[in-house]
Amino acid sequence: MTQTTFTPRVFSGIQPSGGLTLGNYLGAMKNFTTMQDAGTHETVYCMVDMHAITVWQDPAALKRNTRELCAGFLASGIDPEKSILINQSQVPEHAQLAWIFNCVARMGWMGRMTQWKDKSGENAEGASLGLFAYPALMAADILIYHATHVPVGDDQKQHLELTRDIATKFNHDYGVDFFPITEPVIRGAATRVMSLRDGTKKMSKSDPVDASRINLTDDADAIAKKFRKAKTDPDPLPGTPEGLEGRPDARNLVNIYAALSDTSVEEVLAANDGKMFGYFKQDLADLAVARLTPVSSEMSRLMEDPAEIDRILARGAERAREITAPILARTYEIVGMVR
Ligand code: TRP
Repeated sequence: MTQTTFTPRVFSGIQPSGGLTLGNYLGAMKNFTTMQDAGTHETVYCMVDMHAITVWQDPAALKRNTRELCAGFLASGIDPEKSILINQSQVPEHAQLAWIFNCVARMGWMGRMTQWKDKSGENAEGASLGLFAYPALMAADILIYHATHVPVGDDQKQHLELTRDIATKFNHDYGVDFFPITEPVIRGAATRVMSLRDGTKKMSKSDPVDASRINLTDDADAIAKKFRKAKTDPDPLPGTPEGLEGRPDARNLVNIYAALSDTSVEEVLAANDGKMFGYFKQDLADLAVARLTPVSSEMSRLMEDPAEIDRILARGAERAREITAPILARTYEIVGMVR
């Protein structure tokens, strides 16, 4: 158990691998904004470009996607004065600490990561070394800020456990109480946004069917059309959540409505008991257009001024380094590196 008290600090990251969806907005960004505005924690949000290149990225696309992700953060309410907003490779201490952690983490730990097994698939021999080491870099992202809380989806839970293992082993091996044992803040399945064409599959930017997702860059017509055509079952809306049992498509639309209107599933159902989905989908389309078009138009406005985005990121990196440089220096000292 760690004895030191750490500043309450939230860290989270998103890969700039292209194509932000409603899933990113409701699952991550909206929640990041709430944490920022609560003012109970310092908040650090990161575009993880070094994680993205663990699989091939076209260089021009990586640049565009990084700026677009930054525009997405800003448009969904991240304020670069309140939060530290950064691109990973612009804060070199992430990579520097990652090397130390490569020497703390064990091959066996990394080999057990389910994301590694899924992504490397049949051809692990042909996967990059970076893909294998991915979770050690993620641990460095978090611990270079001594972050105490990390909001992520449940697919990242195992990586956060590994982060705790790395912190524990480092503290133990060097006889220090230096890195915090970070708490995951896992989003439950209820806030996971599913495909509009198949309520059992996660909404994904890589689904070949565009109608399965809402892109944050979609215009009002596209948003409305996709919701009106979303898959449902023939039954009307139930009055209580039990009535959504075994109805993944219906549940998904109700979840999205609740999240977009900042209410609970119970309240949405109580207000729409017995309504046919044809009408509900129209209401949902109107709500989504009202909520999302300001985000998409702000994103396109920002994308027209990449220099402004770059200025914001440069400033974010400068602020970040006030935290990361002393933590790295202390780490090197602990490890016994001559400075
Ligand atoms: N691995 C995370 C994902 O793909 C992204 C990520 C990188 C991250 N570093 C992080 C998330 C640190 C939280 C904290 O979703």
